[in-house]
Amino acid sequence: MRRLRGRIIQPLLREQVLQKTDLVAPLFIDETASSRREISSMPGQFRYPPQEAESVARELWDDGIRAIMLFGVPKKKDAQASGAYDPKGVVQRAVRSIKKSIPGMVVITDVCACEYTDHGHCGIVGDTRSGIDLLNDPSLDIMDRIAISHADSGADIVAPSCMLDGVVQSLRHALDREGFKDVLIMSYSTKFASALYGPFREAADSGFQFGDRTTYQINPGNSREAIMESMLDLDEGADILMVKPAGFYLDILAEVRALGIPVAAFQVSGEYAMIKAAAARGWIKEKDVVIESLTCIKRAGADLILTYFARDVAGWLDEKQ
Ligand code: PBG
Ligand code: ZN
Repeated sequence: MRRLRGRIIQPLLREQVLQKTDLVAPLFIDETASSRREISSMPGQFRYPPQEAESVARELWDDGIRAIMLFGVPKKKDAQASGAYDPKGVVQRAVRSIKKSIPGMVVITDVCACEYTDHGHCGIVGDTRSGIDLLNDPSLDIMDRIAISHADSGADIVAPSCMLDGVVQSLRHALDREGFKDVLIMSYSTKFASALYGPFREAADSGFQFGDRTTYQINPGNSREAIMESMLDLDEGADILMVKPAGFYLDILAEVRALGIPVAAFQVSGEYAMIKAAAARGWIKEKDVVIESLTCIKRAGADLILTYFARDVAGWLDEKQ
């Protein structure tokens, strides 16, 4: 085997090499901010006021990043998440300004209610057999409205992250009916109830006031259920599937890839924070660990990787050439 690893031979035989077009940069747009604010549990990541959305997207574009995922932090929250489908809402405004100035940037929007509800759950809550919980079908209508308003603002891809049953079919019908046949659906199809979303909930101000998300997100130990979730979304018309988080779930990612359509993986806030924290103490080399983590996510089957390191990686890839 070592003949294959000779110094000048090994570059020819490399199976997976990261490219900028593998990456999607998540961005937080905060309607309550007047200037960019660093997120304390995610050093190097910021919440941007809506008027800065275009300029930060431009910086990413100039660095070679071709896709972004937008999350919004609204001024007002209520039980119905009405800010999420407001045509003048924080994400809608950001999408319009970015697409106007950089039409080539692929803009993906997170379709969920948890940043917009006062209780912090991913849709409408109400009484169920087992107490107050997320109501499935009443929440679907809200997701339809959110996705339509994002598409109407110019989003290229909508990404439902609520884990409601039937959401992909519901969105596909709604988008087609409203004339958005070309808007893709990238479903957060296999999303685990992970402790690694902690820093995100600070960043997006989307922590829940009661309960948890285990009645809609998947238990980390359940692999059949995880694959079934992606199979159902494929059947319902998803264009791209997703596994989230990424690094702890590479076995699932490999299986979802085998379903036959493009797959994204989301290296989430907690994965980012862990690498940042260890690197800050000098315990690991940040660049090497980041490149290794993303290369392995790609090897396991990801066509696209959502990562808060997107911009850093773009810079490192430039250094090499
Ligand atoms: C909203 C949403 C979450 C993330 C993406 N979309 C949080 C959650 O489900 O609690 C997590 C992203 C991250 O941690 O980086 N539903
Ligand atoms: Zn949510």
